[in-house]
Amino acid sequence: MRELSLHILDVVENSLQAGATRVELTIEEDLTADHLTVLVRDNGWGMSEEQLARIFDPFFTTRTTRHVGLGLPLFKAAAERCNGSLTIASELGSGTTLQATFQHSHIDRAPLGNLPAALMALVLSARECDLAYSHRLDGREFEFDTAQIRAELGDTPLTHPVVRKWLQEFITAGEAELKQPGLT
Ligand SMILES: Nc1ncnc2c1ncn2[C@@H]1O[C@H](COP(=O)(O)OP(=O)(O)O)[C@@H](O)[C@H]1O
Ligand SMILES: [Mg+2]
Repeated sequence: MRELSLHILDVVENSLQAGATRVELTIEEDLTADHLTVLVRDNGWGMSEEQLARIFDPFFTTRTTRHVGLGLPLFKAAAERCNGSLTIASELGSGTTLQATFQHSHIDRAPLGNLPAALMALVLSARECDLAYSHRLDGREFEFDTAQIRAELGDTPLTHPVVRKWLQEFITAGEAELKQPGLT
């Protein structure tokens, strides 16, 4: 895939499929160590050891709509191509944690891509699941937690047009400021 944000969407989609009510997504760009790490932790129903053992097999999927599950094998291949790795830990009944690492400067590393668009899609699609997001770069951090935002909003849903517009601007500005501090 051309953008890591698409892999991220895919992985969080798995968390939602697994009934998660809370997903923590952390992106860490450590330019000194030349690492880019994507961490996704969910509280979904998790996987048995047997399921976990087959997770990188493209012919293993518990989905019934399409018969080849390529999300994880592709993400793993992308990481390994960039001197990185993808690991998953999971426990039935408590959740799943996925970590993908990349050499930040690797020539084959796809850009993060349009993170604001991916985040908006996640925040708006999964109304019953909260997203705790953190993106760190060069000692700076942009973070939000939809649980907190929803608590402040009271009865107004995240999908309310005014909230949606505010979220879009908040996320776009947060990501832009992270990349080029002082410009926004
Ligand atoms: N976070 C998760 N929680 C529980 N099961 C998961 C999770 N991520 C992946 N899986 C399991 O691994 C399978 C393969 O995932 P994936 O490669 O993304 O393909 P697909 O989503 O198309 O099935 C899923 O069908 C699901 O059974
Ligand atoms: Mg998937």
